[in-house]
Amino acid sequence: MLLGGATLIPDLAIIDPKFTVSAPKSITAATGLDALTHAIESYTSKKAQPLTDAVALSAVKRIFKYLPTAYKNGTDLTARSEMSIAAFEAGVAINNASVTLVHGMSRPIGANFHVPHGISNAMLLEKCLSFVLDGNYPRFAELGRAIGAANSSDDDKTASEKLLGAIRELCAVCEIPTLAGYGIDREKFFAVLDKMSEDAVKSGSPANTVKAVSVDDVKIIYRSLWE
Ligand SMILES: [Fe+2]
Repeated sequence: MLLGGATLIPDLAIIDPKFTVSAPKSITAATGLDALTHAIESYTSKKAQPLTDAVALSAVKRIFKYLPTAYKNGTDLTARSEMSIAAFEAGVAINNASVTLVHGMSRPIGANFHVPHGISNAMLLEKCLSFVLDGNYPRFAELGRAIGAANSSDDDKTASEKLLGAIRELCAVCEIPTLAGYGIDREKFFAVLDKMSEDAVKSGSPANTVKAVSVDDVKIIYRSLWE
């Protein structure tokens, strides 16, 4: 579950990309893909609105363009600057339009298996979005075209699927492991799967998803991470 409230909000936040240059690759991957998840989830959230759309879309474009360079060459200050702006834009977007299914399902994996937040998001991103797609092809298609994975001649379904392909590629570039690759024991995962599924839905985030999400849907998606 989340902790929130005014006492947790800093009086001042300094966003200086120079501070991120020494971040190791694993942190660059986790935070970069967390920002991508924020941007995509807020853009496709039930609470999306024109002001959050503008920053979410901008963040998605920057992340697809600059995260591979920031990951491979951490001292590239242009890539670090673009990722810092993107992370800020995506934060503005989620604070006003909320996250959806991916974050709802990601937190229980972190709580039970201590996977860093951005990594568990990345593990879930493609599977969760492929579940949500058929309720929301036009929105996902806009993202697919905005990053250049699809073009105007692709129909919305095709453009949405090309977005998922681009997400898969970006996760591969950032060397995102599977649950098994991370070292999680399959039996231990399945032992807590029912509780994780209930907790995911209870967190409230999945209710912001454009498609209705049941506890059984969440169970199916968790199981699919092992296929
Ligand atoms: Fe997040």
